[in-house]
Amino acid sequence: MTIDPTIYAQRRARLISKMQRGIAIVPTAPEVARNADTHYSYRHDSSFYYLSGFTEPEAVLVLISGDEPKSILFCREKNPDREVWDGYRFGPDAAREQFGFDAAYSIEQLDEKLTELMGNQPALFYPMGGDAAWDQRILKLRSAVQEKVRSGIRAPDEIRDVRSLLNEMRLFKDKHELDIMRRAAAISTIAHQRAMRFTRPDQFEYQIEAELLHEFCSHGARNPAYTSIVAGGANACVLHYVGNNALLKDGDLLLIDAGCELDGYASDITRTFPVNGKFSAAQKDVYEIVLAAQAAAISAAKPKQTWNAPHDAALRVLCQGFIDLKLCHGSVDEVLHNESYKKFYMHRTGHWLGMDVHDVGDYKSGDNWRALQPGMVLTVEPGCYIRPADDVPMALWNIGIRIEDDVVITAKGNEVLTNAAPKTVADIEELMRKR
Ligand code: GLY
Ligand code: MN
Ligand code: MN
Repeated sequence: MTIDPTIYAQRRARLISKMQRGIAIVPTAPEVARNADTHYSYRHDSSFYYLSGFTEPEAVLVLISGDEPKSILFCREKNPDREVWDGYRFGPDAAREQFGFDAAYSIEQLDEKLTELMGNQPALFYPMGGDAAWDQRILKLRSAVQEKVRSGIRAPDEIRDVRSLLNEMRLFKDKHELDIMRRAAAISTIAHQRAMRFTRPDQFEYQIEAELLHEFCSHGARNPAYTSIVAGGANACVLHYVGNNALLKDGDLLLIDAGCELDGYASDITRTFPVNGKFSAAQKDVYEIVLAAQAAAISAAKPKQTWNAPHDAALRVLCQGFIDLKLCHGSVDEVLHNESYKKFYMHRTGHWLGMDVHDVGDYKSGDNWRALQPGMVLTVEPGCYIRPADDVPMALWNIGIRIEDDVVITAKGNEVLTNAAPKTVADIEELMRKR
């Protein structure tokens, strides 16, 4: 990937201007041990990456606002011995040059430099409460600055959560981000098509998971954005099922919630289809209700509507469907009011999507759901999960369905990034018949 430092420099400049006066400290994520001396695949902190484009561990970004704004990176030193084992590291000089920071220092100098840099800054911004070790370290550094009071140096009076500024910036995706998200979404749609082509009765769920990962990686998306859910039959009624180790049965549905991460951005798609390639009558009845609910929700995902409008639209369609299926009783308004639908639909219809699959950004402004605006990206993912129960028609037992797409709000309405993954009954059955 080529680095375009101007994108990150512009974001830093915007954050600096929002801070008005003060210092911001944004660390990247720590490496995490898996067992013994093996680590989990390293993933940078999203906000750190948003402001820097830098993906090495052990790095901290410091921004200074005021009359002489500055962005300073602290990162690992060059180390020829370690680089033999672990590979290339930029080191402060190359990092400063290639990523366009005003200065860069060794991470070993962080505490010493921060005590200098914090002096006489009125406010200190950092991701407060994000990590207990950082909270302690920051307070300790601030105390060290306070000790210099007799030399005329003041510690920051105000400590603020940098995320309240950053999250709002991240909520609105710029062109660079949308381009990546379109590509991530496209790769995930190919992966879902591949899963439909490879699914047969008597395979294990993890074998289909392997096909998804194969497709992600083949297109340069080295990791899923979250653990793939590959849930056959009753497992689809477990919302966060990640066991993925059961045998797929003829006559069951398979729910797959999987999306790749590409260049730090998530995609998030769910498709539900028959293991044998043909929906039963009962499965089709439920599926069409969820699909209609999703269509209603996508239509409501446009400017001037509130965040909650797609959820409300989906809920009304689902409630009518649940009444038609004799899962719920009464009128739509009664079912909404007494919340009997929650037995079959217990989650919300989406979330912001971006660098994190459940991305940052407020959903409310004060007491009100905020208005949807161009540049926001959200998922639209209604579902229906029918567990066996005496008051539930037996033909519907263990049907679990969710249909999820990624949607960008545009000036005119929206753009669905993930339409290439088939979702009508006819399109799914045709793809599975022709494989
Ligand atoms: N894959 C997580 C979600 O759909 O929210
Ligand atoms: Mn989702
Ligand atoms: Mn999902």
